[in-house]
Amino acid sequence: MRIGILNSGGDCPGLNAVIHGVVGAAAKLGWEVVGFRDGFEGLLPPGDYMMLEPSDTIGILKLGGTILGTTNKGHFAAKLGKGDIAEVPADIVAKAKRTLDQLEIRALVVVGGDGSLTTGLQLYREGWPIIGVPKTIDNDLQATAMTFGFDSAVSTVVDGLDRLHTTAESHKRVMVLEVMGRHAGWIALWGGIAGGANVILLPEIPFDLAKVAEFIRQRDATGAHSTLVVVAEGACLPDGDMVTVDSNEGGQVRLGGIGDVVAHRLEELTGKDTRACTLGHLQRGGAPTALDRILGTRFGVMAVKLAEEGRFGRMVSYQAYHVDSVPIEEAVNKLRVVEADGEMVAAAKAIGISLGD
Ligand code: F6P
Repeated sequence: MRIGILNSGGDCPGLNAVIHGVVGAAAKLGWEVVGFRDGFEGLLPPGDYMMLEPSDTIGILKLGGTILGTTNKGHFAAKLGKGDIAEVPADIVAKAKRTLDQLEIRALVVVGGDGSLTTGLQLYREGWPIIGVPKTIDNDLQATAMTFGFDSAVSTVVDGLDRLHTTAESHKRVMVLEVMGRHAGWIALWGGIAGGANVILLPEIPFDLAKVAEFIRQRDATGAHSTLVVVAEGACLPDGDMVTVDSNEGGQVRLGGIGDVVAHRLEELTGKDTRACTLGHLQRGGAPTALDRILGTRFGVMAVKLAEEGRFGRMVSYQAYHVDSVPIEEAVNKLRVVEADGEMVAAAKAIGISLGD
């Protein structure tokens, strides 16, 4: 028995833990593992892959990134934007399938987010033996309570806020931290609460910067010296537009700049010295947290179990501290976003955090 694994979409901490888990569990069964490089691209002739022996995975558990490489562009990009689905062309699918057949791969583990799993679902429907593993720092996939990578990203945000807090206090400033989160504000919400932010601005909750300015004035009146604002990159301006850098040729639109916009406007409205900082890809890099190492490992082990049972078209899923699986179609095409009236937003508000609404 020989199985394949590929990482697709943006990288995140914990990808190597999944590879470690898959290779370890497969070795126990006496199976061979083929790792395809740079996502689905590695399937295109002549095939770009490596045989993964347990000895190849020694020491990778703690490494960020992925030893296989990944891409969120290329021939297999299923999504260019929210709800914007592009089918992978038939000739590309056929070429890639030939590689799979020549290598006698009996199961293909696709580690990806919404876009990559949408590609995985198309291929499964065309007869491929696909098993999905949910990955994204944004934590916005349906049908799983958590994706690996998210906890590591949140830790980076908390570290950033801890650092910004001391400099903000010293200078009595407003500090705006822009974090990732295209369509869902989970990183901003979790990171903001854990890092002691005073204001959290999310894609899901329209905000009014005049209200945020008034909130800052009231804080000043009660003796607070500084204010920490966290804003998700996908949070929208009053006209409903997201702030973009430019279009990422062949991929999704690149977000970035909302932090500067918010900081500039708050400085105008409050007259307070205000600075913006963007965490960017620091949130995707570096060593995974213990939780992400464990989640990645368990997800990898479950993927091999699904392959053993021949349960294709399913995605590994984390529910109530338990790793199980769901049909891939339950996980894609509908993002899991922050509920404006949900318990976490209520908890944030209960401790005096402003959501700008
Ligand atoms: O989807 C994960 C994510 O990190 C988003 O939060 C972010 O908008 C995007 O990927 C950035 O992608 P890229 O690596 O192409 O800049």
